[in-house]
Amino acid sequence: MSLVADARILFKLLRGMPSSGEAASRLEGFYAGQAEAYDAFRERLLHGRQELIQQLQLPDNAYVVELGGGTGRNIDFFGDKLNQLQQYQIVDLCPSLLEVARKRAKQYPNVSVAEADACTYQPQSPVDCVIFSYSLTMIPDWQSALNNAQSMLKPNGKIAVVDFTLSKQQNSLISVFWRKWFSHDGVHLNSDQPQRLQAMFPHGEYIEKFAKVPYLPFVRVPYYLFIANQSY
Ligand SMILES: C[S@@+](CC[C@H](N)C(=O)[O-])C[C@H]1O[C@@H](n2cnc3c(N)ncnc32)[C@H](O)[C@@H]1O
Repeated sequence: MSLVADARILFKLLRGMPSSGEAASRLEGFYAGQAEAYDAFRERLLHGRQELIQQLQLPDNAYVVELGGGTGRNIDFFGDKLNQLQQYQIVDLCPSLLEVARKRAKQYPNVSVAEADACTYQPQSPVDCVIFSYSLTMIPDWQSALNNAQSMLKPNGKIAVVDFTLSKQQNSLISVFWRKWFSHDGVHLNSDQPQRLQAMFPHGEYIEKFAKVPYLPFVRVPYYLFIANQSY
């Protein structure tokens, strides 16, 4: 962690997500200038990613797609298991983050990167697993992204999601605070997302947790992990 890198990220977070333009250019406007320092800062903000990957049980030669994969940070959480995958496809709309993902992917012949929209991207063949890691809350038409994810899964494929949410365990004032705080940066919290996931994939496991946020020592943000099979 470097204070200068943190200051650059905090400046971008304070400026927020541009409010006009196409999705890709808004994302680029937000992430350009923070892409190189993205991973170090998000390590302290995006909790549960390693846990999600470690809990995933995948068949040998699995084909995995991450929608909104950003810098590809999650591939490191696979460790040696990454070699057992047939393919790990990182899909994202933001060129600056994908540049970091491409550098990271160079050392892995089975990792590829696609600049595409999570709502419309389709893989070459049905996949064993789709991952959303803190991307659903950033995708305005998240219902389309979920429908698209479901459409690309093999009959026994898996969906794995980790993201921020609003919790019934926190009072409504705190929920209003989180909603406002995150929406400034293009992250739209709502409790409909986990509900929709559980309706689409009724046999999944849903866990809600609370995590620290950098530079906000007195609050805890709710996030959830969800893993489900397409069919049970
Ligand atoms: C908070 S980042 C998470 C990145 C990564 N999954 C991780 O865990 O570090 C959210 C990502 O979603 C991407 N994103 C937002 N809307 C998207 C869309 N419609 N299609 C593809 N990616 C999108 C952003 O560009 C960004 O990389």
